[in-house]
Amino acid sequence: MRPRRTRLSKAIRDLVAEARLEPSQLMLPVFVNESLGEPRRLDPMPWLMEYPPEHPSLASAVSEALDAGVKSFLVFGEPRAKDAAASRAYARDGPVQRALRYLRRELGWEPLLAADLCICGYHEEGHCGVPANSRRGRIVDNDQTLSLYRRIALSQAEAGADVVAPSGMMDGQVAAIRDALEEEGYWDVAIMAYSAKYASVFYGPFRDVMHSTPRWGDRRGYQMDPRNAREALEEVALDVEEGADIVMVKPALAYLDVIRLVKDSFPHVPLAAYNVSGEAVLVELAAREGLAEKRPLLLEILYSIRRAGADIIITYHAVEAARLLREGWTPF
Ligand code: PBG
Repeated sequence: MRPRRTRLSKAIRDLVAEARLEPSQLMLPVFVNESLGEPRRLDPMPWLMEYPPEHPSLASAVSEALDAGVKSFLVFGEPRAKDAAASRAYARDGPVQRALRYLRRELGWEPLLAADLCICGYHEEGHCGVPANSRRGRIVDNDQTLSLYRRIALSQAEAGADVVAPSGMMDGQVAAIRDALEEEGYWDVAIMAYSAKYASVFYGPFRDVMHSTPRWGDRRGYQMDPRNAREALEEVALDVEEGADIVMVKPALAYLDVIRLVKDSFPHVPLAAYNVSGEAVLVELAAREGLAEKRPLLLEILYSIRRAGADIIITYHAVEAARLLREGWTPF
């Protein structure tokens, strides 16, 4: 065996490459903001826009992504006001619900539309669950949150979601949502569970967009401790048992070992990895500062996430990466 023989030309490297990546494996986050009259650039991620929920530019952005080969979208909503009931999260005319209906009307069932299911951007206290007073002081009440999640899931299903994606890390959230969906006859709505979601500093730019930094405390009482990997197996096992169709590890780049562990332990379960906002911004900054070339950096990161075992990658660079892949551009 001479390992160099299979490295000597691009053709043979492409022939023997282990990890493969296709545009259809990428999912693009999409932000809709019900306070906007016109689309505008996302301040911390200026290569992306946020859209009014029924603006033609939203449909064209999704169409352009479809043309590049990206078929799946994860919709996040920014409400015009936050309140103590997180009411814009489940309102029939909430930002996500309006955007889903609009996109279905304009584009039919061609795009796969997933809706992020959480209240942190909608609740005035900025937590992913409902706050309550307890003997420990103010806490996030797990079980009160579940009835709210059921309601959000139904409103998203009713508006046309293919997938609901609970991201709040409440115990039992997948079972509660599955039960609500079944009860109302939405057997065809898939659940993509944020199963192993870590309490990470890499969410910073996203929270700036959503104004979803908690008003008190932090998220360590429900999101996972970055020091733990094996614990992710328990989270994934529970979510699969509760009826998740796709499980997720988040963030991606700093948690490649967790992706590998989950894939090896649950090889039959579709696995998504969320290459989060802070990770995307690092790529942009490195490129802007001349520390790395953007295109090869981007593809090396995406291939490393595939190599670790993710089937699906949620990335803010989905369209740019898809275009490179379509052109057959690789740095390898
Ligand atoms: C909301 C949610 C978060 C992200 C996706 N859904 C943020 C958080 O937990 O604070 C992070 C996405 C990103 O940083 O790209 N529960």
